[in-house]
Amino acid sequence: MDEVAEVTRIAGACEVADGASPLDEAARIALADGAATVVLDRGGFALLHDGDLSLAVHPDHRRTGIASALLARTSYDGGVTAWSHGNHPAAARLAATHGWERVRDLWVMRRDSTLPLPPLEPPPGVRIRSYRAGDAAAIVAVNAAAFAHHPEQGAMDEDNLARRMAEPWFDPAGLLVAEDESGMLGFHWTKRHDAQHGEVYVIGIAPQAQGRGLGKMLTLAGLHHLTGLGVEEVLLYVESDNAAAISLYSRLGFVHADADTHVQYRRRG
Ligand SMILES: CC(C)(COP(=O)(O)OP(=O)(O)OC[C@H]1O[C@@H](n2cnc3c(N)ncnc32)[C@H](O)[C@@H]1OP(=O)(O)O)[C@@H](O)C(=O)NCCC(=O)NCCS
Repeated sequence: MDEVAEVTRIAGACEVADGASPLDEAARIALADGAATVVLDRGGFALLHDGDLSLAVHPDHRRTGIASALLARTSYDGGVTAWSHGNHPAAARLAATHGWERVRDLWVMRRDSTLPLPPLEPPPGVRIRSYRAGDAAAIVAVNAAAFAHHPEQGAMDEDNLARRMAEPWFDPAGLLVAEDESGMLGFHWTKRHDAQHGEVYVIGIAPQAQGRGLGKMLTLAGLHHLTGLGVEEVLLYVESDNAAAISLYSRLGFVHADADTHVQYRRRG
């Protein structure tokens, strides 16, 4: 059986039924690159990569014990985490009965593009421009410093950046950087999903430049870019305990609905 096609088929059916895909970007890349371990069982799959598990059962095959069987058949070395994209009640139940604990909540926040956008007024000496060849090393450095405590984003190296830039959605005009005479201060990487939806994909300000209004300015610059492309809604993912980012996004009109939460579980022991 073609594992990639079968996982993709099941994930697609789950996304239609649940409103959220069971595969995030990192899982999709690992699957496409042959870097994931896949177990298939009667319309369900378990996909393991880099200590992270994605597990899903086709809507037509649910409530027959497949998820429990897949969990039992998946072997892990060391700790393992799993995301429930959309906080699915079955994931909460499985976690409770199989010794996993809820460790992180990731919020989705959304902004209606019909809300008025404040004008973009960079502070004196600061320039905002689009990505150009030669920026990669500085982006990786700013990202590593800004996300030093973030378990996934902080690990982005030049190879991983290049891999993401090779994705079909990548548009250099949507990767904005802020700089002054000292070098790069921060960046905002936007992502256009389709004609209606855009994303604040990654935003990071170098720690020494934080708290000077640059995060707000770069977020605004990205919003101007995305709304200029005509998207109706801009969404983003933010850790529920990232007070600085949530405050920034809320002031710019982003809102979070309780159901719009992704939950990460970690297996105990
Ligand atoms: C979140 C981040 C982008 C904000 O950038 P920044 O340049 O420090 O923020 P700004 O100076 O533009 O502040 C803008 C707003 O953010 C809020 N804010 C900034 N720092 C804050 C803090 N430590 N606590 C609470 N609110 C804060 C304020 O609401 C501020 O608005 P105000 O000036 O009207 O009061 C930056 O802190 C960062 O890079 N953090 C690490 C990476 C990260 O978490 N990125 C977001 C992932 S979703």
